[in-house]
Amino acid sequence: MQIFGVDIGGSGIKGAPVDLDRGDLADDRFKVLTPQPSSPDEVAESVKEVVHHFAWQGPVGITFPGVVTDGATVRTAANVDKSWIDVDARALLSDRIGGLPVTVVNDADAAGVAEMHFGAGQGRGGTVFVLTFGTGIGSALFIDGRLVPNTELGHLELHGHDAEKHASTKVKEDHDLSWEHWAKRVQRYLAHVEMLFSPELFIIGGGVSRKARKFLPLIKGLKAELVPAQLQNNAGIVGAAMQAAKSAE
Ligand code: BGC
Repeated sequence: MQIFGVDIGGSGIKGAPVDLDRGDLADDRFKVLTPQPSSPDEVAESVKEVVHHFAWQGPVGITFPGVVTDGATVRTAANVDKSWIDVDARALLSDRIGGLPVTVVNDADAAGVAEMHFGAGQGRGGTVFVLTFGTGIGSALFIDGRLVPNTELGHLELHGHDAEKHASTKVKEDHDLSWEHWAKRVQRYLAHVEMLFSPELFIIGGGVSRKARKFLPLIKGLKAELVPAQLQNNAGIVGAAMQAAKSAE
């Protein structure tokens, strides 16, 4: 079965039909730049462009980089335009793409669901975190394979700061931090999450997971196992489609 997945990110909006049996894209993905300002109306136009590129007809799963309740309503918007808060994104986006059924899900939760099913978390029980490092830090918590949605651990306080303002990939780039310096910050962040939840496994996702070899070996002292995500950049698209398939059942 195929379902369309769209990933709304801080820099790009990308989508493709997803083959849910293989957990992979069924076609090359299509990407447009995230409009600035990233207001609901502008972003909805970009989502429309991506969906129409494939002349897609059928259910669509869409990630959003903030808290999303009931597959529909946006509650926070740390790294996108604040006018998203309290918008019924499901209604807005569905309306814009000709009434196709839409499910909206937090971006890290979507990536996590895909990673647990098709990637590094396959068959893993206990307490598992999938953390995505990018513009912000996203978190997805799984207890015996079941998602606890909207955990938002990127906003834990670390040294008096919002953790994602200290250890995201964007911070590394903006301040030109070395891998060693940034890995120390990530290590402190992971140690903090470990102190609170004692997970068995951390799966590190987001675009930077492609470069896992440069920083994961520098992270020491954790009791939990630490592994890179396997689906990397497509995890959000795949997970969004998986969640849409669940809603369509
Ligand atoms: C948002 C999360 C999101 C993460 C990654 C954070 O700023 O609050 O909802 O998952 O960024 O995009």
